[in-house]
Amino acid sequence: MSSLFREARIDIAAITHNVATIVARMGVDVLAVVKANGYGHGSVAVANAALAGGATRLGVVDITEARQLREGGIEAPILAWLHDPDTDFREAADFGIRVGVSTPRQLDAAARAGVPAVHLNVDTGLGRNGAVESEWADLFAAAARYADEGAYSVEGIFSHLSGTSDEEDRQQGVRFSAAIDFAAQFGIDPPLRHLAATGGAWSLPELRFTMVRAGIGVYGLSPFGNRTSADLGLRPAMRLSAKVARVKRVAAGEGVSYGYLYRTRAETTLVLVPVGYADGIPRVLGAGAHVQIGGVLFPIAGRIAMDQFVVDVGDASVSAGDEVVLWGDPERGEPAVEEWADAAGTINYEVVTRLGNRPVRTYV
Ligand SMILES: Cc1ncc(COP(=O)(O)O)c(C=O)c1O
Repeated sequence: MSSLFREARIDIAAITHNVATIVARMGVDVLAVVKANGYGHGSVAVANAALAGGATRLGVVDITEARQLREGGIEAPILAWLHDPDTDFREAADFGIRVGVSTPRQLDAAARAGVPAVHLNVDTGLGRNGAVESEWADLFAAAARYADEGAYSVEGIFSHLSGTSDEEDRQQGVRFSAAIDFAAQFGIDPPLRHLAATGGAWSLPELRFTMVRAGIGVYGLSPFGNRTSADLGLRPAMRLSAKVARVKRVAAGEGVSYGYLYRTRAETTLVLVPVGYADGIPRVLGAGAHVQIGGVLFPIAGRIAMDQFVVDVGDASVSAGDEVVLWGDPERGEPAVEEWADAAGTINYEVVTRLGNRPVRTYV
């Protein structure tokens, strides 16, 4: 029985296990990606668990996220890679945050602020914030100049894969190697060379260079549409549950929830689950998502509302206060995050990351 009205229970041991599994497979440094509140799991708790599992560094998107880790007591090296174009990096310097940079202007700001180290972000074919090839000479020249002046160390060079196909990812690897060679001509030889995230690093060892940035695998979820967590030896760390808020018996032919997408076929029992799209549950859910009550799976009936949805449990015996599991570890018979993702036409990343603040995170 769940003790909380809405609970996202995070299994810390699963995170540590997942990171240890990734570290063992990769054979290079692992930076654990804990951006977006640790993909919805809680960034500080995930960071501690990931470090215990053998990650040596943490990655976030911006300096605000990095500061939250420091304020949570995290002392490990943190890299932040997406910045306000007007940022002066003073906060990064104050909190000892490494910054990913891709323009001479950012290098200048990082030097003035006194950040401990920079990682040069090069675009090898994703079209996001890395420097494109025509900008590499200016970027590397500026980085070498500031490094010579002792402003910071150029600790890393990195890029990000599109994951379109193994072949296209390998081509990005070739361009990344070219960037590393070109940087060497400017006297830049950063020890941390990182291109791949969980998926690319899992399947293509040659793309691991000296470090990988692992996100989704840390949380025990698979980056592959055709391989489950269990196939990879990973354990989903989040279990989302709620208490049944109301149970009622209704007649055949009753419409359920907004727009009557569902009508009861026979006299049946409807169960109200107090979680909705305000909590991140996709409203566009199609067929296929189930919840588990008393060890049995039941389909969702009708539209997801802002705060609640309905489940038709037929003649099963369910009472108010019973625990409803929305997703967890399919190895325990719980619905998979991927089932919800498929039903909503999205990916497991989005389902867990969108989870709102009302479900209380608990850590076991
Ligand atoms: C730059 C960067 N590196 C690494 C990751 C982690 O990716 P994954 O969760 O697929 O391991 C992300 C996530 O989106 C990212 O944006």
